[in-house]
Amino acid sequence: MNLAGKRVLLTGATGGIGQAIATQLAAEGASLLLTARDADALAALATRLPGTHQVCVADLAKAPERARLASRVAAWGGLDVLINNAGSQHFGWFTEQPEDAISRQLLLNLEVPVLLSHDLMPQLAVPGEAVILNIGSTFGSIGHPGFSTYCASKFGLRGFSEALGRELADTGIRVCYLAPRATRTDLNGPAVNALNDALGTRSDSPQVVAAAVIAMLRNGSRRRHLGWPERFFAWLNQVLPAVVDLALRQQLALIKRFAMHQEISK
Ligand SMILES: NC(=O)c1ccc[n+]([C@@H]2O[C@H](COP(=O)([O-])OP(=O)(O)OC[C@H]3O[C@@H](n4cnc5c(N)ncnc54)[C@H](OP(=O)(O)O)[C@@H]3O)[C@@H](O)[C@H]2O)c1
Repeated sequence: MNLAGKRVLLTGATGGIGQAIATQLAAEGASLLLTARDADALAALATRLPGTHQVCVADLAKAPERARLASRVAAWGGLDVLINNAGSQHFGWFTEQPEDAISRQLLLNLEVPVLLSHDLMPQLAVPGEAVILNIGSTFGSIGHPGFSTYCASKFGLRGFSEALGRELADTGIRVCYLAPRATRTDLNGPAVNALNDALGTRSDSPQVVAAAVIAMLRNGSRRRHLGWPERFFAWLNQVLPAVVDLALRQQLALIKRFAMHQEISK
């Protein structure tokens, strides 16, 4: 896909990865509809980008605000690309997570991309070439202690992307799933960063993730997992999950030290 002039709706545009994606898409000449809840951050982002772009302030967890976003897309004349990037993560021991933190994560990371895809599919530019690109995670392929609900949401998003992509295989709509590894943004609080340091987990800049988004849109691929050894462990977890069980069992006491007694803030 040539991105020049393409209409792209980007959720979570004000976040670390969202801003990097917006910057790289704008540099490609795409026309953006940027959405998030923070009006000032959205306006500042739109002003910084080359070209003319639109913003829509919306809390995607609320059905009427998703409907308002869909109306904006209709008024725009439809879409070439939907990027489901908004997400939240509540690191912590499962039994210590309040119900509302569990529900918010499942809603924003899984239900919202499913519902937005459903609502906006009729507005995707077909016949022609259109893309739904869902931002997953390494934790959409590896169940990790301390991230049980986040993993549930991202495993679900991966399954949804695969099934919908196969359902639409004879249409002009391509469904993509990109799984970043740990990325240096505010999504990860101090406890996650400390755990990553203790485990020696490598992380990427948001620009690396954004470059992968641009490459997927351009080159027609449908799945991509970022990072090594993360890609290897995602594969190993599919074929020999007991080996990964054992590796994580050996790290459990350490993970528990960071994951227990977390404040739920996001
Ligand atoms: N950072 C990582 O280590 C990492 C690794 C793998 C995958 N990912 C995935 O990458 C995506 C982007 O993450 P990030 O690291 O850029 O996170 P981030 O910096 O925390 O940004 C999250 C974005 O989501 C928006 N958002 C949050 N709640 C919302 C709501 N209710 N309605 C609408 N928008 C909402 C935020 O804007 P407002 O607060 O203004 O609404 C913000 O733009 C997520 O799907 C995440 O799961 C991240």
